[in-house]
Amino acid sequence: MLITSVRIRRRIPAGEMFQMCGIAASVLKNGEVGPVLYDCLKRLEYRGYDSVGEASVVDGKITVKKDKGKIEDVERELRISGLKGRVGIGHTRWATHGAPSQENAHPHTDCANTVAVVHNGIIENFMQLRQELEAKGHRFKSRTDTEIVAHLVEEHLRTGKGFVEAVRFAATKLTGAYALALICASEPDKVVCVRKESPLVVGTSPTGNYCASDIPAFLSRTNQVILLEDDEMAVLTADNVKLVRIDSGEELRREPFKVEWSVETALKTGFPHFMLKEIHEQPLSVRNALRTQAIYLDLMASAMSKAKKIFLVACGTSHHACLAATYAFSNLAKVAVAPVVGSEFIDSYGALVDQETVVLAVSQSGETADTLSAVRGAKDRGATILGISNTMGSTLTRLSDVYIGQNSGPEMGVAATKTFTAQLSVLIKLAVALARKRDIIRKSQLEEIEAGFGQLPNWISMILSTQQEQVKSIVEKYSDRSSFCFLGRGISVATALEGRLKLLELSYLPAIAYPAGESKHGFISVVEEGYPVIFAAPKDESYSRIIGNVMEMKARGARIISIVGEEDDDVSKLSDETIRVPSGIPTMLSPIVYILPLQLFAYYLAVRKGYDPDFPRNLAKSVTVH
Ligand code: AGP
Repeated sequence: MLITSVRIRRRIPAGEMFQMCGIAASVLKNGEVGPVLYDCLKRLEYRGYDSVGEASVVDGKITVKKDKGKIEDVERELRISGLKGRVGIGHTRWATHGAPSQENAHPHTDCANTVAVVHNGIIENFMQLRQELEAKGHRFKSRTDTEIVAHLVEEHLRTGKGFVEAVRFAATKLTGAYALALICASEPDKVVCVRKESPLVVGTSPTGNYCASDIPAFLSRTNQVILLEDDEMAVLTADNVKLVRIDSGEELRREPFKVEWSVETALKTGFPHFMLKEIHEQPLSVRNALRTQAIYLDLMASAMSKAKKIFLVACGTSHHACLAATYAFSNLAKVAVAPVVGSEFIDSYGALVDQETVVLAVSQSGETADTLSAVRGAKDRGATILGISNTMGSTLTRLSDVYIGQNSGPEMGVAATKTFTAQLSVLIKLAVALARKRDIIRKSQLEEIEAGFGQLPNWISMILSTQQEQVKSIVEKYSDRSSFCFLGRGISVATALEGRLKLLELSYLPAIAYPAGESKHGFISVVEEGYPVIFAAPKDESYSRIIGNVMEMKARGARIISIVGEEDDDVSKLSDETIRVPSGIPTMLSPIVYILPLQLFAYYLAVRKGYDPDFPRNLAKSVTVH
């Protein structure tokens, strides 16, 4: 769907974009596909709502109706629900970068209008494929990565392959993450779907078959579901679903299972709350964040390398991502940056801001009033504005000279979880890009971090699968405490602050967080017998000093809960409770992993206390007032 994760205002004219989207497809025995797809797309709207489209095949011809705008607006304008035919595909888009437009809306078609495709994900090698296809005479209508799929299938159809084989061969050429659904004018009885690392589910019923990004799309029509696995295709006809392995073409057998969920539960994919669902999405959302293309990081790094002053401006969780990134900018890129909360920026630093200043603003929503007023104030003073946001088209992206999408997909829980780890992933990639630009990063350091980026999704999955019960049992033991303290050193100060924020916003407890070394300058007076102190204690350069802090707390009767590496001996021996994370995580990346147990801790404590973690009192997802 996308073509790039960043747009450079003033320098790159055309809109280019990453997206997180919903796709739907259906093959009916009777009736028209238009209203069915429209209904499915309405149910997928939470996945995206900046443009929408449908395509169907009738009398050997493909018809496409699509435009930017919310689904109801596009319906009013184009009557997409009026699309005729029994076989069709649909798409609702959520751009993580760039202005929505009619040409970039899905479905996309090939030169001869024989193939139409909808897509969710990121095709990483689209640029190279596009050049190859253009050299063969293909003409592109959009700037998306998705369109190359239609042309690639067309290319294979030209060699005499059938539709299914053409799609299969095309899929073997793609790298990245994608869920695709395609129709073909010359084989009008079927939809072909492909899955790699982006969700795709099939629904079967006596009256027709369906495919979608998520079960709620078709749950009102059927609860018989087949989950597609990575590197598999599904061929849907009105009375059959055939599963095929992409690499070998071998046919697979898998029986549908019955989904007992209500639509509401299905929206949360079976999790009791969006927050828990989003915590569990992090292996994928971090991987997507890390897909930010090097060229755009490099453009941001250029602006930063020329600046005399650099401020990282954000609020709440986004500020904590900036705090952790400050450590990475200083240790990797050897560049001093000042992290400042949005509400304080102009009062405290406005007088320093000029044309040689870069303000890197980070905001999940891109609409936080305090961050935006800092950005506007800095812009008025001539600063270059860089933006990292999860919401393309937001005010922050419109105010930014350069912006990058963090590709997390919509976050429904008020407490930021997956967007924190995604922001930090992008920020650390940016620190690496800056270090490379300044030619000061050691080869071994670079290799360690690059290998760490590759491992991050696995490390996160490992914690989610091995430590959840341990976290729950600690919550049980400590659920009656009236306060908690979170301590860390170095980059883990950010982890401690973020762990505290999660706990206090969800459990309404007056929690405390400190740099561990600072704790003896005041906080220690609070500690008494049984007071729970939570340490984020990776085995990094501050490890020997944090042992001292643990002993100081223990000596005053604190109960020590530590998050440590698998290899840890010393801190764990001093601890009353230990949560283990995988060993070998580079320091720079440790908050992205160490925050997981703290997110789970805050979640389960809130649930234990009978609070709704998705809707904490007095808080809004996007704080648009000063
Ligand atoms: C975090 O859990 C909170 N919901 C809040 O602190 C949030 O991070 C803050 O309001 C900033 O939001 P933004 O990233 O959308 O700018």
